Amino acid sequence: MDADELRAVLSLEGLRLLDSLPPYESKADVVRVVADLRKQGHPPTLVAAVLTQSRLRARARDKFGPFADRMLFTQDGLEQATRLSVAAQHAGRFARADLSWVADLGCGIGADAMALAALELEVSAVERDEVTAAIAAYNLAPWSNVRVEHGDATSYPLDGIGGVWLDPARRDDGRRTSDPQDWSPSLDFAFDLARRLPAGIKLGPGMDRDLLPEGMEAQWISVDRDVVELVVWSRDLARDGVGRAALVLGQHGAAELTAAEDSEDEPVGELGEYLLEPDGSVIRARLIGDLARRLGARMLSPDIAYLTADAPAASPFAVAFRVIEQFPLDERTLKRELAARGIGTVEIKKRGVDIDPSQLRKRLAPKGDGSATLILTRVAGRRAALLAERVQ
Ligand SMILES: C[S@@+](CC[C@H](N)C(=O)[O-])C[C@H]1O[C@@H](n2cnc3c(N)ncnc32)[C@H](O)[C@@H]1O
Repeated sequence: MDADELRAVLSLEGLRLLDSLPPYESKADVVRVVADLRKQGHPPTLVAAVLTQSRLRARARDKFGPFADRMLFTQDGLEQATRLSVAAQHAGRFARADLSWVADLGCGIGADAMALAALELEVSAVERDEVTAAIAAYNLAPWSNVRVEHGDATSYPLDGIGGVWLDPARRDDGRRTSDPQDWSPSLDFAFDLARRLPAGIKLGPGMDRDLLPEGMEAQWISVDRDVVELVVWSRDLARDGVGRAALVLGQHGAAELTAAEDSEDEPVGELGEYLLEPDGSVIRARLIGDLARRLGARMLSPDIAYLTADAPAASPFAVAFRVIEQFPLDERTLKRELAARGIGTVEIKKRGVDIDPSQLRKRLAPKGDGSATLILTRVAGRRAALLAERVQ
């Protein structure tokens, strides 16, 4: 979205038109709505701009729920924005640390700043991109305790600020970049600030662990089993004795596993009746050993992130499967066994073997009304296929 389009949306006519549009459903609807709006005499730029917003609001509901219908977005801003349930967790930490004035350095469309503001913290939200800053100002307008500043975070004066939140842009020209040198503000700037002030720094979950600074807390967060981010916390925002944490958000609410450092794996043991797949945040935080001890489970094979146990573990930190049968990892055998059981719907999972599940599914061509999970892995070091069912 460029400045002209934003100006069009932010006009009285633009905002009214946007709020009057029917929910965005499909491309076919859009063609009809465009024709209607053009017939009513609205200028083409305005029509295009409000329809873009309408489409972005529909997509944003996944992250912001009904709040999306009161917000404006850019495509990039929405993709990079922290979902509200996660932003609320971050904001809670600032509030618990009693930091009354927080700077959000590179605030994007303002999702993290919204959560901080909702907890009544004073927030200075700084954004370098002019259009994005204007959108953040619109989104944050309901909170009088937020000030949005259009400017460069790296030269923003921090006198009197109690803590900082940084969510560096990890993209260049709209494309994701994994090289921390290209992030903005840079990783060096963020970590240097974190040494001086209480800070939370949001990073990609796949961030090279060797780059993490010593003495700070690293918290991996998953939402509905998808690892969405890593946050590095410093000083008053880091918890005593916590160096690694896995925060799991989902239907169950929030659950967290913490430890001072990476945990030692449990020894490998025999395949039990159940196979446990640790949450991705637990794997990233290297807390599989701690999880195994908590669940009375053992490793299935060295260096493979599956656990096995004799009882079904009800835990937010792992998905449990009941193992029905173990086969050698051989396509002809699998095809025959699936056919014999009438299994037509197969969820294929794999760890520690080099197989493309979608290609394998095509070759297995399963048919029938039954369904099952096929787990391709190594059992005591040997390639194996486990026919299993999810434990609800
Ligand atoms: C990942 S986004 C922030 C998303 C935000 N936390 C949210 O949840 O909506 C990073 C933002 O930082 C901005 N940015 C990058 N470098 C900056 C700088 N030096 N000063 C201010 N803003 C900057 C980018 O324009 C981008 O909007």
